[in-house]
Amino acid sequence: MTSLLGKDLIGLEGLTADQITAILDTAEPFKEVSERSIKKVPALRGKTIVNLFFEASTRTRISFEFAEKRLSADTVNVASQGSSVSKGETLVDTARNLEAMRIDMVVIRHHSSGAAQFLGERIRSNVINAGDGKHEHPTQGLLDLLTLRDRFGRIKGLKVAICGDVLHSRVARSNIWGLLKLGAQVAVCGPPTLLPRGLESLGVTVMHHIEDAIGWADALNVLRLQLERMEGGFVPSLREYNRIFGVTRERLERAPGDIVVLHPGPMNRGVEIDSDVADGPHSVILPQVTNGVAVRMAVLYLLAGGAPDWRSQAADER
Ligand code: CP
Repeated sequence: MTSLLGKDLIGLEGLTADQITAILDTAEPFKEVSERSIKKVPALRGKTIVNLFFEASTRTRISFEFAEKRLSADTVNVASQGSSVSKGETLVDTARNLEAMRIDMVVIRHHSSGAAQFLGERIRSNVINAGDGKHEHPTQGLLDLLTLRDRFGRIKGLKVAICGDVLHSRVARSNIWGLLKLGAQVAVCGPPTLLPRGLESLGVTVMHHIEDAIGWADALNVLRLQLERMEGGFVPSLREYNRIFGVTRERLERAPGDIVVLHPGPMNRGVEIDSDVADGPHSVILPQVTNGVAVRMAVLYLLAGGAPDWRSQAADER
């Protein structure tokens, strides 16, 4: 069956504004499924999905699994620990062996940038990128867009500042592509050591003072310092980083408007974001997590060949 999104979802760079909007629109009715006492629809009944997580994850892994189960798919979870990957089996051999058991889709998180595309080019099943190295995390970008759209009613014209460790962030890359395609204004803010070069050529504004970002933006997307991807020297100390770049209540109180704060998680409380911001009135961090399930249901459903108007298709099948 031909999908509106093509065979795989590798990143938002490869999608059009219409495809991104179709995913967000398809997620809307799926939100309601998670509010029911019986959280299940038959949209992917009979489909088998493998979640291949070769890197740690709480939100994305569990959210994909909920999304798959709520669509009535059969799911299998594979982690590198405990699988034959730990004995040296290659990614492609693992995936081909899974395909030999007649699967339909693979959701993959991998520490190497490009792993999802590499896999998608070598297996017949649909591949969904759940985060590949420093490249992209498209479903995180989509759930951030949906959360912004819920809050502001639009994406076009919004001013969004992505703050912190942009250099190591696949979330930043997916957000930049998605926001620009939907007509938002995008800035990045952080120390020069944590900002990649060349973003200005995409139309992204670069800022080095968190006060400037807070003064400009409608929404801040605050990124975690990815200490595990740093070999030292990127910031003098975590205390220093918090003093200069931390998103604090005192700083937000000086914002000219009602600024919204997103964070993809996991958070380093007291480093890039203070607890009274994370848990305070500006925060949409938990609504982001809730939206993650609906967005992933939409992506799974569309990649399986579902029509964007899920409700009318479901009605036709009754
Ligand atoms: N946002 C995100 O990717 O979180 P996890 O690493 O917990 O999946």
